[in-house]
Amino acid sequence: MSSYIIEGGNKLEGEINVSGSKNASLPIMAASILSGKTTTLYNVPNIYDTKTTQKILQLLGCRVNKKNGKIIINSKDIKSQEIPDEQMRKMRSSVVLAGALIGRFKNAIFSYPGGCDIGSRPIDLHLKGFQKLGINIEEDGGIIKCSCDKIIGNNIHLDFPSVGATENIILASVFAEGETIITNAAMEPEIVDLQNFLNKMGAKVKGAGTNVIKITGVKNLKDVSYNVMPDRIEAGTLLCMAAITGGEVLVNNVKIEHINPVIHKLEEAGAKILLDKNKIAIKSPKRLKAVDIKTMPYPGFPTDLQSIFASMLSVAKGSSMVVENIFENRYKYVNELRRMGAKITVEGKVAIIKGVRKLTSAQVNSTDLRGGAAMCTAALAAKGESTINNIEYILRGYENLDKKLTKLGAKIKLQQI
Ligand code: UD1
Repeated sequence: MSSYIIEGGNKLEGEINVSGSKNASLPIMAASILSGKTTTLYNVPNIYDTKTTQKILQLLGCRVNKKNGKIIINSKDIKSQEIPDEQMRKMRSSVVLAGALIGRFKNAIFSYPGGCDIGSRPIDLHLKGFQKLGINIEEDGGIIKCSCDKIIGNNIHLDFPSVGATENIILASVFAEGETIITNAAMEPEIVDLQNFLNKMGAKVKGAGTNVIKITGVKNLKDVSYNVMPDRIEAGTLLCMAAITGGEVLVNNVKIEHINPVIHKLEEAGAKILLDKNKIAIKSPKRLKAVDIKTMPYPGFPTDLQSIFASMLSVAKGSSMVVENIFENRYKYVNELRRMGAKITVEGKVAIIKGVRKLTSAQVNSTDLRGGAAMCTAALAAKGESTINNIEYILRGYENLDKKLTKLGAKIKLQQI
């Protein structure tokens, strides 16, 4: 078990670069399966989830090399279309490897994906989408076998704009006969990044970023090199961390339009924000004001920043209301935050936060990836030394968080037992 030891109470100050996006890198790495050729990726963060994806690609038969900040994946000699259960369980997004395997080989065997425990996370929309493309699905003892002779383009309407289902259907239909149209598609920027990557490789995907995506099947793909977009959730996390400490930080390498709702809420809470191309400067008051947030699919407020924002609001002046509309159980971190003196009550999807003047240091657990980041956020402001345990969750999604925070003046140590 690894922990972060954080001595709170230091203002974050200075300049920091955001890493490449986790949620864009994972489907793009999976998409490298499709070409049977060489994919060179820049800006992939060095985190547990990209390492797990790399491992799965290698187990399937890809050659993967990492050098000088780039990852080179050659998918010519894939021998297996079966994703090992042990790896499937490590993260939710292992499921997008299925779409890529089906797209290329018309065959994939996999089990239910694992990932953060933030509520039941079914994959029914992914499987219904595959079926609409003519893919046969058999399930036995938790093992799902997808196969078909032909993938045939179709109109697919998603009951909910699921990010993973949208990506999986795109991946499975890159070589389909005819045209696939996804309606009520997820509009997240990571899907636009996947589209841009696929099109650079020779695919024909249009409409990502809107709720209608059209994929016209192609016959071949080619070698590609691609620069992954910056991580909007990491950017938002760093801004909230700066804000809770009353700090003044310049966050570089951000696509401002990707985190508009977060910027607006930070301003509403009293932070001064300056925007310039791909940079965001934040200057925080001594004490923030309470604000209400509701998580929604993009372009709404991102569920992945709910816990981190709530943590920040736990010391704001007044009462804030948080509504979690995406995941059914994304408040597990609240119990841990209460150990630090936060006053939060939760009923169903609503959390009411009564801002306290100060948090106290404590020994707490990371309950999931973003819940862990929320604990770090609180610990940065709490007087005294806090220990955040189980940070394996945090290491799944944040690259060098301790080093970045140290650069900004925080006192944080990584302890590995
Ligand atoms: C992705 C992100 C995750 C983010 C989430 C929502 C990655 C690797 N992860 O997760 O960080 O929190 O989008 O922005 O990109 N659902 C179903 N059936 C399905 C699929 C989803 O009911 O077949 C439900 C889920 O249980 C959840 C909601 O739809 O309640 C949204 O899930 P989805 O958009 O699919 O999230 P992920 O792709 O898993």
